[in-house]
Amino acid sequence: MFEPQVLYTACLWFIFGISALSFPALFFFTAPYGRHKTGEKGIGAGMNATLGWWLMELPPPIVFAFVFSRGEHRAELVPLLILGIWEAHYFYRSFVFPFLLSVKNKKKPYLAVSVGFSFNVINGFLNAYAITNLAPHLTLDWLRDPRCWLGIALMIIGFSICFHSDRVLRNLRKPGETGYKIPHGGFYRWVSSPNYLGEIIEWAGFAMLTWTPAGLAFLVFSISNLFPRAFSHHRWYQEQFEDYPKERKAILPGLL
Ligand SMILES: NC(=O)c1ccc[n+]([C@@H]2O[C@H](COP(=O)([O-])OP(=O)(O)OC[C@H]3O[C@@H](n4cnc5c(N)ncnc54)[C@H](OP(=O)(O)O)[C@@H]3O)[C@@H](O)[C@H]2O)c1
Repeated sequence: MFEPQVLYTACLWFIFGISALSFPALFFFTAPYGRHKTGEKGIGAGMNATLGWWLMELPPPIVFAFVFSRGEHRAELVPLLILGIWEAHYFYRSFVFPFLLSVKNKKKPYLAVSVGFSFNVINGFLNAYAITNLAPHLTLDWLRDPRCWLGIALMIIGFSICFHSDRVLRNLRKPGETGYKIPHGGFYRWVSSPNYLGEIIEWAGFAMLTWTPAGLAFLVFSISNLFPRAFSHHRWYQEQFEDYPKERKAILPGLL
């Protein structure tokens, strides 16, 4: 069996490694699911989207809580605060978000669910292990450090943008509809994928709040995955809708 510390280091480099590979690759190859599935061609068979999302997002709250409960600093206030924030995010992502999806009979590819599930197991372990064993700075003094409160503020702002933007998308379809429309309002005034922007801001906040290599790895992975997909969504909107707002950017207001 691997020593936890060896496993931690291997997982950390694995996440940085796949991020470095996927960031450039995803600008050339758009994963063919959702709107990017062409005709019947996608990445294979799939399961009910609600079930797929629920399964995929189940490991982070469970693995994180399990690893945390065995950690050296599990009974300390700041790690417990971070545990609460992590669990709150994943309560939404795995127990609320999948059940709000606008089209419940859509399919999520098995491959996407398996890859997401595996990443989430690794990431849950990595972050819980880092916080409870490898972060001696997360003492009561951390509550007086600006990184702690700036991190929490960014997480709240990011979550709010992501939550609102996902809600706008959900409300675009009337019952029974499966197509796509131009979203408006909120951050859609400026960018095509504000839900991804919000997600990235949220994990930037988490990286700042925890100040661990594991938190940074999750942020880097989120950017490497969501940035290229936001550009694919943006191009797709421009190709599909002649009246797509010209001033709208892909993911960074006014810039990109
Ligand atoms: N941290 C990470 O690395 C990570 C990775 C992936 C996702 N996420 C988060 O998970 C959430 C969902 O991600 P996603 O990739 O599924 O987002 P998405 O492509 O924006 O789609 C979100 C939902 O809205 C529907 N939708 C999107 N655009 C629409 C439009 N123009 N008209 C009508 N319906 C539309 C989609 O339907 P269809 O399924 O039919 O396309 C889907 O049900 C986001 O908040 C994202 O930030 C995070």
